Amino acid sequence: MSEESTDRPAKSGASAAGGQPGDPLWRDEFPLTSEGEDFVARRDFTRYLIAASGVFAAGAVGAGTWATMQRANSGKAMPIVEVGDIPEDGEYLFKYPGDDDPAILVRLPNGDLRAFTQKCTHLGCVVYYKPEEETLFCPCHHGFFDPNSGEPTAGPPDRPLAAIDVEVRGSTVWALGIDT
Ligand code: FES
Repeated sequence: MSEESTDRPAKSGASAAGGQPGDPLWRDEFPLTSEGEDFVARRDFTRYLIAASGVFAAGAVGAGTWATMQRANSGKAMPIVEVGDIPEDGEYLFKYPGDDDPAILVRLPNGDLRAFTQKCTHLGCVVYYKPEEETLFCPCHHGFFDPNSGEPTAGPPDRPLAAIDVEVRGSTVWALGIDT
């Protein structure tokens, strides 16, 4: 039995498959040229890029949805304090959402209630309310926050305090969730 060599010398004329005179015999059975191979590789690469983009887009949407759900579900509703026990134009300290999470409830001069995590967004010291200056104050590095919005107003902090949704139900202030 003779074995057909793939390195057999060229045939004498152009093949039916379009080979050129002088091409080796294997070119008839495997007619891709290097240009064709490049084309296939580019096409495959483009498909890969499109598929990868789709995966990343789906991941981003999923992560955004998950983060939104987390935000919506962080912290459960719980009673905090009787309205009458909050000092006029003052603060009430409590724990929320867990027993190790310090939080601050502020009664603004106009009577509105605002609540935030008590952790400064700079390096995590606790913040206090200064009613005479109408500001939330972090003594560690003199950071200041707006007690209405929690936005930083001066000092090193550059992110707002996490707000806690509060609502008065009857005579009791309830915490409803935390905006993380
Ligand atoms: S920890 Fe609050 S300003 Fe630095």
